[in-house]
Amino acid sequence: MKIVVTGCAGFIGSHFAHYLLDNYPTDSVVGIDCITYAASEEALSALCQRDNFIFYKEDICNAEAIGSIFSAERPDVVVNFAAESHVDRSISDSSPFLRTNVIGTQVLLDASVRYNVSRFHQISTDEVYGDLPLDADIRFDEGSPLNPGSPYSASKAAADLLVLSYVRTYGLSASISRSANNYGIYQHTEKLIPMTVAKLRLGEPVPVYGDGQNMRDWLFVGDHCSAIDRIIRKGKCEIYNIGADNEWANIDLVKKIMSLSGYPDGEIAFVEDRKGHDRRYSVNCDKLRALGWYPRSVFDRELKTTVEWYKSK
Ligand SMILES: NC(=O)c1ccc[n+]([C@@H]2O[C@H](COP(=O)([O-])OP(=O)(O)OC[C@H]3O[C@@H](n4cnc5c(N)ncnc54)[C@H](O)[C@@H]3O)[C@@H](O)[C@H]2O)c1
Repeated sequence: MKIVVTGCAGFIGSHFAHYLLDNYPTDSVVGIDCITYAASEEALSALCQRDNFIFYKEDICNAEAIGSIFSAERPDVVVNFAAESHVDRSISDSSPFLRTNVIGTQVLLDASVRYNVSRFHQISTDEVYGDLPLDADIRFDEGSPLNPGSPYSASKAAADLLVLSYVRTYGLSASISRSANNYGIYQHTEKLIPMTVAKLRLGEPVPVYGDGQNMRDWLFVGDHCSAIDRIIRKGKCEIYNIGADNEWANIDLVKKIMSLSGYPDGEIAFVEDRKGHDRRYSVNCDKLRALGWYPRSVFDRELKTTVEWYKSK
């Protein structure tokens, strides 16, 4: 199979490209990324040294360029990771989010219809459902209404709706996965785990929004990759939630990172809360579990390895 992986120089896309090359030696991966500030040079250069990998430095919003790549490569599968992904940036300026996350998805969908791609998979987020109260005894399932709370999650929800419209209108075979927060190496330093390690190393206070009680479910990036792979190869053209049953209040996660990183006495600074800050995300993954997938990683072990890696940077 030939698989296009957009956003292949980013955090999760780079892991997924490696995952495919590790597990399917007869498949080939066509990576596309325009290299924004969030791309990891280290992740991309490791990929470029591998067999069966070809890289195009291109913007997914450029319809002509994407059409030429699809025409030359004739991919079987397209997995779209390329996105603007940082909520705080979307609050400062939502324009790049609408451009890449919505228009970029539309360009890829059009090329997928035109070149008869046999499966389009859209990487979405659990944030499209909005948030839950901290003490709620419910989780979002795939039929829950979309209720995004930030320009980032609104742009991802819009892209999801666009994908579903292409299934109905053009008969495109497409699926969508909505994942919890990921952790692992190669993530940009503006995100919670790498930022916490960086601040501790510098001896600076670690900023924590509001009262620090906002809850997130933390999924190891390797488990996310195996889930996407399972959906593409065994799942239907439907929506699948991906979670880890591993919820942590931000403040507790920061304290855990302090102890794992060898800076147990690091300082925490509670800062003004993010505008519209979602309280808690939690998704029901029964549909994906029915495909035989479950997260295999041990949180303490993978988090320690992750923290050690950021400490070494
Ligand atoms: N990180 C998480 O915890 C998480 C959780 C759930 C869902 N997601 C989703 O997973 C996907 C990947 O997230 P990530 O954390 O790896 O993001 P990231 O910001 O680390 O990487 C995004 C990559 O996309 C590339 N890119 C951005 N705009 C582009 C464009 N116009 N054309 C081509 N390439 C472009 C960037 O250069 C970067 O390499 C996103 O769709 C995100 O919404 C992420």
